[in-house]
Amino acid sequence: MDLILPLPDDFHIHLRQGKDLVNYAQSAMQQFGRVLAMPNTEPPINSAESVKKYKEEILAAAPNLEVLLTFKLNKNYSEQELREMQKNGAIAAKYYPLGVTTNSQDGVAKIEDMYPTIELMEKLNMVLCLHGEEPGAFCLDREKEFLKHLEKLCKTFSKLRIVLEHVSSAEAVECVKRLPQNVAATITVHHLILTLDDIVGDSLRPQNFCKPLPKLPKDKEAVRAAVFSGNSKFFLGTDSAPHSLEKKECLCGAAGVYSAPVAIPILIEEFENENKLDLLSNFIAGFGADFYGIPRQAKKVAYTKKEWQVPKTIDGAVPLKAGEVLRWQK
Ligand code: DOR
Ligand code: ZN
Repeated sequence: MDLILPLPDDFHIHLRQGKDLVNYAQSAMQQFGRVLAMPNTEPPINSAESVKKYKEEILAAAPNLEVLLTFKLNKNYSEQELREMQKNGAIAAKYYPLGVTTNSQDGVAKIEDMYPTIELMEKLNMVLCLHGEEPGAFCLDREKEFLKHLEKLCKTFSKLRIVLEHVSSAEAVECVKRLPQNVAATITVHHLILTLDDIVGDSLRPQNFCKPLPKLPKDKEAVRAAVFSGNSKFFLGTDSAPHSLEKKECLCGAAGVYSAPVAIPILIEEFENENKLDLLSNFIAGFGADFYGIPRQAKKVAYTKKEWQVPKTIDGAVPLKAGEVLRWQK
């Protein structure tokens, strides 16, 4: 049995840098037609020049991947710099609070310090992507505690399009639903299927450790309800964030779930289990494009119902559901 889907968009992916980039960009190209690449590389994407170079590097590795770029919002940019980044392919800025996740040691302590740039972004019709976690709060409360900043941003910049990335709590889902149409959220595959139990419930499972943390069953249910209600404010951003096995399984393990190679097969299964396959194409290739104001994907891809076992490692990283059997493949 075949399932024909639009070629998926991923509105939140980490492709890294250097030789890792080649593998991760090619992996992404096998699954997605279009991706929004995150800027927390080493060094970060934070200038017109680095936006241009990063896009060229990704395209050299994965020529059929349509790449949309972000830049790191951890300093104020002039209008001219923003216009140049836009010209080079950046459609959004990514805001990382100080120290909350991978490569955010250069993050921002006070979001209001970025308001001058945010005001310019609103004028230039750029999108603000938020890693919504409050530094210093208890780990399970960080997203909830961040929501006051989202509310204030929304009041201050009423025309700015804002994406709360990788929503993981019932409170964040409710907040995004309540705010006006210029506020949306990405949802990852792992926050749809994991809770804290899958990280520390029985054995320690570093491959499932990520930020924001998968939370309580009620939070997972709220994230699922948002997706399976077909609400256009919620669309796919996998936050696929590969780290080598050595970087994940050590004294101070890195946060990030490598989901790109398995994201769509898992989603098909989840939508099928919920009897909601009719909602899948909007989630993976509709609502996100509409929100970003870009054309919907015209190309199609066929998936076949045929079991396969997820490899224990892919590109040196342990993927989500490693070793498990999935029901659908390309
Ligand atoms: O778990 C995460 N890993 N969350 C993020 O926000 C960043 C990502 C990464 O870059 O590894
Ligand atoms: Zn991310």
